[in-house]
Amino acid sequence: MNAIEIVNLSKNFGKIGALNRMSLDVPEGTIYGLVGPNGSGKTTLIKALVGSLRPNSGFAKVLGLDPLKDKWELRKQIGYMPQSPALYDDLSARDNILFFGKEQNVPDLHQKTDEILSFAELTNRADDAVRTFSGGMKKRVSLCCALVHNPKIIFLDEPTAALDPYLKMLFWILFRKLAQSGVTIFVSTHQMDEAMLCDKVTILRNGEILAVDTPRNILHRGKTKLKIFDNHEEKTAVIDSTSENLADELKKFGLEKNISSVELQPDTIEDIILSIIRKKEKEEKS
Ligand SMILES: Nc1ncnc2c1ncn2[C@@H]1O[C@H](COP(=O)(O)OP(=O)(O)OP(=O)(O)O)[C@@H](O)[C@H]1O
Ligand SMILES: [Mg+2]
Repeated sequence: MNAIEIVNLSKNFGKIGALNRMSLDVPEGTIYGLVGPNGSGKTTLIKALVGSLRPNSGFAKVLGLDPLKDKWELRKQIGYMPQSPALYDDLSARDNILFFGKEQNVPDLHQKTDEILSFAELTNRADDAVRTFSGGMKKRVSLCCALVHNPKIIFLDEPTAALDPYLKMLFWILFRKLAQSGVTIFVSTHQMDEAMLCDKVTILRNGEILAVDTPRNILHRGKTKLKIFDNHEEKTAVIDSTSENLADELKKFGLEKNISSVELQPDTIEDIILSIIRKKEKEEKS
């Protein structure tokens, strides 16, 4: 079953087409990554899905509901972590989480709040006002607020921006655990390495989808630089990044005893995503 269905969704801000006839299905229990440069439409899409923005045309269904008409029904079932944390600065971390939790009638709210504060490593600062927190700490409180009511889908708009590598890793371990328990995670990111941690990745540019694929298949779109040292002479080749191509290329060299080393430099996911975006840019210019 699809947790999210998007059909021909468009949103314009004056002359700017932030979403251009976008269509996408997101199966339940997957981690769905939205990758794209600044202004590609990631936040606009997420806002349209959580019912905080009215599209110009097309439609979206989230858990079978209309994000605008069924906004309040949907609120109970989704969590949303905005790009800029929307917290009450004068309240403590704990009171922010309690506030969101009370709105949603969360059972055992105080215990749940303690658990979630501990997970986000905020127990020591739980009763300090959020205005005294660093950017990364505010992000953590914001994630806690998005999770406190055990939502079925979580929309995360650049959740790990401004987090240190250790916490970033903890967040992703949690996202995977949530997905395994059936929660759908819809997450935007600038950090291409995070694309590898998703089940599926959508590459956006100028409100258009350039590719939807698994990270593994995206990696296969890349090239690998091959360097072979034969009697100290360096020979290079550029091949497709699939193991069959590598075997074929190596066959040309047989098992020469003079070959002392073979070096592989595969494109990274970042190289490939950027080249997909650049290819589109070039097509538009020509
Ligand atoms: N309220 C608004 N008024 C006018 N233009 C807007 C508004 N919100 C977004 N836009 C425009 O829509 C386009 C998409 O913006 P959006 O915020 O969705 O991009 P993004 O992919 O989230 O970018 P970033 O990575 O910087 O967060 C941009 O050109 C932006 O200027
Ligand atoms: Mg954004």
